Amino acid sequence: MAEVKFSLNYSKPKPNAKKIIALWSAKGGVGKTSIAISLAYALSKEFNVGLFDADIDCPNIAEYLGINKKLMGSKKENRIYPIIKDGIRIVSMGNIYDDVVFWRGPMITQALKELLIHTEWGDVDFLVVDMPPGTSDVALTMMQEIRPDGVFLITTPSKMALKDLEKSKSFLKKFNIKLLGIVGNMCGDLFGNVEKALGCIPLSKEIAKRIEEGKPFNDLTDVFDMMVEKVKEV
Ligand SMILES: Nc1ncnc2c1ncn2[C@@H]1O[C@H](COP(=O)(O)OP(=O)(O)O)[C@@H](O)[C@H]1O
Ligand SMILES: [Mg+2]
Repeated sequence: MAEVKFSLNYSKPKPNAKKIIALWSAKGGVGKTSIAISLAYALSKEFNVGLFDADIDCPNIAEYLGINKKLMGSKKENRIYPIIKDGIRIVSMGNIYDDVVFWRGPMITQALKELLIHTEWGDVDFLVVDMPPGTSDVALTMMQEIRPDGVFLITTPSKMALKDLEKSKSFLKKFNIKLLGIVGNMCGDLFGNVEKALGCIPLSKEIAKRIEEGKPFNDLTDVFDMMVEKVKEV
């Protein structure tokens, strides 16, 4: 086994996970990563779960969860082995490179596919994918080629986030990807609420503290129960 280096060839079209569930928003900073982590923990009570950080150039999962191990792989077997924390199988670029990467689109999509497809996910029922913001390379590759079985769109109640939410919805429609629901985040007195959402996670000190400590907060709101029910229907 050795530290993972990219070989830029992948043999299979899809990752070996039963179902792929992505969390996405065209807008950044709305809570995708924090919610993806808590959803993975909520699902892991009943299922085998993988957590994939699709944010290639600015990965957060490793840092959020305080994992500073290096991702290992076998060149001979062409496999990458996820890091396991609390039973969840995790792959993030943050466990390959410590420093910033200077990559343009083609390199990013190659790395995305190589990590997703070459990882030995084992018998995971659900692979939770934490998407980067934006509608360019990663979003296009995910929706056109990897094609998740369902997507949760995350938004805050702020005007700009809601505007970008409409773009994200059109994007999913264009690629015929199933929308599992809209999840509101940072709701409450300050920003208001998100209408027509599955649920709305409050903006709260307690949640912020948990996230800072690298801990899930799925026990602090019932929104994750609703998300788990939606995932089970996939
Ligand atoms: N419900 C919440 N209450 C308080 N702080 C939150 C909440 N959700 C997210 N945050 C904070 O907002 C920031 C952005 O969250 P993050 O999950 O990284 O967003 P994204 O992945 O969409 O860029 C983080 O610093 C996180 O701690
Ligand atoms: Mg993020």
